[in-house]
Amino acid sequence: MTMTANERLGLAPTDPRPADETRPLVDRAETNPLFGDQKMKLGLFGTNCSYGLIMSHAPSTYKITWEHTREIAQRADGLGFDVLVPVARWKGFGGSTNFNGNCFETYAWAAGLAEATERIAIASTSHLPTVHPIVAAKAATTIDHISGGRFALNLVMGWVPPEMEMFGGEQRQHDERYAFGQEWIDYAIRLWTEPGSFDVASKYFQGNDVEAYPKPHQGPRPALLNAGNSPAGIEFSARNVDINFASLDTLENIKAYTAKVKAKARDDYQRDIKVMTYGLVVCRDTEEEAKRAFQQVVDEGDWGAAGNVIKIAGSGASQSFDHAVKEMQERFIAGWGGYPIVGTPEQVTEELGALNEAGMEGMIFGLIDYNEELKYFGDNVMPLLKQAGLRH
Ligand SMILES: Cc1cc2nc3c(=O)[nH]c(=O)nc-3n(C[C@H](O)[C@H](O)[C@H](O)COP(=O)(O)O)c2cc1C
Repeated sequence: MTMTANERLGLAPTDPRPADETRPLVDRAETNPLFGDQKMKLGLFGTNCSYGLIMSHAPSTYKITWEHTREIAQRADGLGFDVLVPVARWKGFGGSTNFNGNCFETYAWAAGLAEATERIAIASTSHLPTVHPIVAAKAATTIDHISGGRFALNLVMGWVPPEMEMFGGEQRQHDERYAFGQEWIDYAIRLWTEPGSFDVASKYFQGNDVEAYPKPHQGPRPALLNAGNSPAGIEFSARNVDINFASLDTLENIKAYTAKVKAKARDDYQRDIKVMTYGLVVCRDTEEEAKRAFQQVVDEGDWGAAGNVIKIAGSGASQSFDHAVKEMQERFIAGWGGYPIVGTPEQVTEELGALNEAGMEGMIFGLIDYNEELKYFGDNVMPLLKQAGLRH
């Protein structure tokens, strides 16, 4: 049997660790708003990427500079939002906007915002095939310490082939991506939770005398998120994560979906899981104004970028579904395919209440102009959400 480097060099085993390096973890319910008691959690999605959730030239002051993304984060934090979830993107989607092409890397982005905010949970979104678990677990732990236990990790498998090909090699087949993801997260969880050192010998990973210190600030580990909605994705979520993000269209579908995912986690893995959704929120004083603003996003949409997304997602191959494709393109242009909420503060409150009733415990959303519209949301929607008992 080959000797490990530790053995060759005559180094002492690293187990057990001195007590000060294995200090008690803080219960994450005390530090991370994702485990807090707000009935309907609120988050912002995509504030690290150009054009956020809209593939459109509709007017907005939104831009990708550090100062601007930080201002949005601090405003959301001040309003009591629960989480910021970034998009992990390595290449734009072309079209006239090169949608999402300017994109801050999400571990570094989260570290900066962890220092700049007080209360809100900050997520990184990580394409698991692009980063080794040792590096990712250490980065996550570091951000968790910077934020005092407010970190969350959104685990994504990498569905965009041109991006994955930037890293060399071929993109794995769909379900194999989740098999790889399972080994990845098993490895990361060991790094966050196991004292001493251990060996890893699995299909995708090998490692001798692996160790990781310090451990995260929040215990038992940072919050984990995943947005898989396929059978393999739901299985992965039910087995591993705290929150699944669903991409759904109707309240009936949402009800059935949330019940299914929760039952799977409970029955197959004896775990509880939350389900949340995402989309674009367009809120104005009158319904007409809100609809007009939404329509402007569509009218000034980047149909090229939306077409590229749909082509990549494998749905745009047939010319005979022109109508459905146009509708899909509209949904992608205005909210990345998510659940649109368009209306007055009262209507937005009602819709969020209906989503909550259907089993959604939160929504992360985009705004046409994040920074400006957050002020309006804080003044006009937050008080109604409190009155409705959805927030306190
Ligand atoms: C809220 C949300 C956030 C997502 N974030 C990213 C992302 O940042 N980068 C990415 O490549 N895919 C992202 N995705 C796509 C998912 O990772 C996943 O590929 C997609 O939901 C399809 O998974 P499935 O085939 O298991 O249903 C996101 C999806 C949702 C719903």
